[in-house]
Amino acid sequence: MDWHEAKALLDWQIELGATEAIGETPVNRYAQAPERTADPPLAAVAAVASDSAAPPDVAMSDPVQAARAAAAAAQDLESLRMAISDFDLCDLKRGARNLVFADGHPEARVMVIGEAPGRDEDIQGKPFVGRAGKLLDRMFAAIGMDRAAPDPDHALYIANVLPWRPPQNRDPRPEEVAMMLPFVERHVALVAPEILVLMGNHSCQALLGRRGITRLRGTWAEALGRPALPMFHPAYLLRNPQAKGAAWHDLLMLRARLKGGN
Ligand code: URA
Repeated sequence: MDWHEAKALLDWQIELGATEAIGETPVNRYAQAPERTADPPLAAVAAVASDSAAPPDVAMSDPVQAARAAAAAAQDLESLRMAISDFDLCDLKRGARNLVFADGHPEARVMVIGEAPGRDEDIQGKPFVGRAGKLLDRMFAAIGMDRAAPDPDHALYIANVLPWRPPQNRDPRPEEVAMMLPFVERHVALVAPEILVLMGNHSCQALLGRRGITRLRGTWAEALGRPALPMFHPAYLLRNPQAKGAAWHDLLMLRARLKGGN
């Protein structure tokens, strides 16, 4: 193979999202596929699904239904984390290094929901730890809130709509969001925050069924039966610093609501 051919092959891999080398030798995942069919977690999902009206094979061929069954069976955050980690029907899992489940205080009054992990989050297995995450931390620090605070009044709990990084940080696809939404719903139900903060368009689309963050932000909405405040995503604020004034306004609205003021 000549240089140009090798370069074209590499370009093609990058286009597919294979942007980082994680081993010296290639792994043929297709050759490993037969072993995966006996995974106990999938068997567990099938067992739960078989309790419902649909026969297990129908449930298993419908990823949303399988996700609903797996999410409903999780009685606490640790089992939800395991249920997501065992969920094999979302292709994003295969390209991700780590599951990015959540960070912060599970009893926080405020739960922030972002879009999906990026590169830094994928590496560390925690949401919002890259540049946008650092800005998010500074934004909330300005109203006295911190994901590491031990006191639920000042703490945050942070998760994303998608728990695995989309290749090359592409936008989440509707079918990926639909498949993972039952887990997000269960996540919110288990944390039971007083207020949801929806970061950016994808989070609003998933949880409010609406997008257009410029119009949505700064107005209280309702998501999953809880008050929800759409805000500009910190990644957007990094690209559009002139929008930081609006974000500050929204943080003040949040603070006022937490103090019982609006
Ligand atoms: N952007 C998000 O929406 N979530 C993260 O965790 C990081 C960046």
